[in-house]
Amino acid sequence: MTRTLITGGLVITASDELHVDVLVEESRVVALATPGSHGWTADRVIDARGKYVIPGGVDGHTHMEMPFGGTMSSDTFETGTTAAAWGGTTTIVDFAIQSKGGSLREGLDKWHEKADGTCAIDYGFHMIMSDVNDATLKQMDKLIEAGVTSFKLFTAYPGVFYSDDGQILRAMQRAGTNGGLVMMHAENGIAIDVLVEQALARGERDPRHHGEVRRALLEAEATHRVIRLSQVAGAPVYVVHVSAREALAELTRARDEGLPVFGETCPQYLFLSTDNLAEPDFEGAKYVCSTPLRPKEHQAALWRGLRTNDLQVVSTDHCPFCFKGQKDMGIGDFSKIPNGMPGVEHRMDLLHQAVVDGHISRRRWIEIACAAPARMFGLYPRKGTIAPGADADIVVYDPEAEQVLSAETHHMNVDYSAYEGKRITGRVETVLSRGVPIIEGGAYVGHAGHGAYVPRGLCQYL
Ligand code: URP
Ligand code: ZN
Ligand code: ZN
Ligand code: ZN
Repeated sequence: MTRTLITGGLVITASDELHVDVLVEESRVVALATPGSHGWTADRVIDARGKYVIPGGVDGHTHMEMPFGGTMSSDTFETGTTAAAWGGTTTIVDFAIQSKGGSLREGLDKWHEKADGTCAIDYGFHMIMSDVNDATLKQMDKLIEAGVTSFKLFTAYPGVFYSDDGQILRAMQRAGTNGGLVMMHAENGIAIDVLVEQALARGERDPRHHGEVRRALLEAEATHRVIRLSQVAGAPVYVVHVSAREALAELTRARDEGLPVFGETCPQYLFLSTDNLAEPDFEGAKYVCSTPLRPKEHQAALWRGLRTNDLQVVSTDHCPFCFKGQKDMGIGDFSKIPNGMPGVEHRMDLLHQAVVDGHISRRRWIEIACAAPARMFGLYPRKGTIAPGADADIVVYDPEAEQVLSAETHHMNVDYSAYEGKRITGRVETVLSRGVPIIEGGAYVGHAGHGAYVPRGLCQYL
């Protein structure tokens, strides 16, 4: 049996900050104790003096090798999970996709084929339902048995992933009885498509118009609608990638009414804005994602929502497309720019920077990046905390180290960084995944296939 001892660090979880040593046996945490109070010996001792000892990050929203917008997101499960490991994330929940006319199980099998045996860190799946009908509604129950307990539906992307209100209501009703969690991409895609057509007809073709036609009000309208549909269905709802303060206001109002309504935002909405979308020479395409980046004024509302728990989770919506060869499909027509941004590597660091900048506390950092996503997606306390019995997914984090984010040094398989040149205080030093070092001494020491599929339980956040 391999014993690992992490000594002298400040252990930070969502609930505590403790100067304790952590004992790991094989893949699990077995005990915490005050330094000097124990006589533990170990095969491997990690000196964490002056460092934070935190749970590995849980990124509840990624898209590795996802066919989308006429191309494929550029990170494979191998490259994307390796980049995640570099950034202190030890679990992702990616989105398997049901093809129209296919079954949910076929979609899940296809994503297992991509991921199994290739991941550097543990992974689970949500299911994107492209086609809500009698058959697929029944199949939701079976997926829950396979550990896929959450289902993403879209009010956006007509003709691709779009579901109408009746389909959304029916999926929510099913979730109300089988315990599943419906995740909503909330933007009025029908209205957006009209505005896209009108903008193009006026000759508005640059990336910045992507942000203009995908109006904040249309995010708020769809957010309101899916909340009320969930209320009618008697089921919880989780709204993904919230970017507009008007949409957040809908979540806040519903939560004040006591409804089981949850929301996530992403680092791009907290750190970037329409100023980036307006960068000249088509550079704005690097920042095209949906929901879109908003004017800077929205950021304060999002930070506030993260502090007041009107937003519970920060995930990345990592969906990278290269600037050369992929984003450039939309030169002269912003609607053809593949939607999505890279970010899986930088979430833990950017949120630590938010601690340094005074937006959130250290414990809130761990809550929104580790514990809350683990609870939301049925992974707690195996993931998301450091406690006896939990998987030893542990990051030793140097809160004083300085780094500069750049495409030159990142590990994601994409030819640009959305945060090029951004200075960050704090850096991952060591990463354990189930007790095994995968980042150590400035090197990746993991391997493809170390990461295991994690079947998930029901949402534990309720
Ligand atoms: O632009 C984005 N977010 N691309 C990924 C797909 C989605 O809607 O999450
Ligand atoms: Zn989405
Ligand atoms: Zn997404
Ligand atoms: Zn291994």
